[in-house]
Amino acid sequence: MKRSLIISLIVLVNNNITRTTADDGEGELNASCNSDKDCRYFGYLCKQNTCQCDQWYIPDKDNKICVGGVDQKCLYDEHCIDGAYCMNQVICKCKRDKSHILDQGFVCAGNSTAHQITVLLLLATTISGIFTII
Ligand SMILES: *[C@@H]1O[C@H](CO)[C@@H](O)[C@H](O)[C@H]1NC(C)=O
Ligand SMILES: *[C@@H]1O[C@H](CO)[C@@H](O)[C@H](O)[C@H]1NC(C)=O
Repeated sequence: MKRSLIISLIVLVNNNITRTTADDGEGELNASCNSDKDCRYFGYLCKQNTCQCDQWYIPDKDNKICVGGVDQKCLYDEHCIDGAYCMNQVICKCKRDKSHILDQGFVCAGNSTAHQITVLLLLATTISGIFTII
């Protein structure tokens, strides 16, 4: 019992250390590298001595970091494509459960617009219904 508690404490502490060192912006897009190890530990590969997005990762809109498509590894929401979040700090998932995953996982479609349109349509029918009665 006690031993496993100590082990989990050590794991926790270790996780925090890797997290801080991995989060200092080094090894991100276009950073110089000699091997994949010089780039951030997921989402990047060392290609021609610069860190580039790994397969299933794409540059974000500012071209600064590589973000993962749906079902890719992540730590924070910012590591996932727009419309996705980092579930349990492990894997990118679309924010809305009804999202359609498009473009090989690089797009979470089906935002609230569809829902808003339905609500608007309902409202419009109700209003026109009221007017017909009057
Ligand atoms: C990385 O390189 C690409 C292509 O040269 C460029 O468009 C992008 O802005 C660069 N990003 C950073 C963060 O330097
Ligand atoms: C919702 O998605 C549609 C296309 O599917 C897009 O045109 C629209 O800009 C999106 N709206 C928001 C708020 O993201």
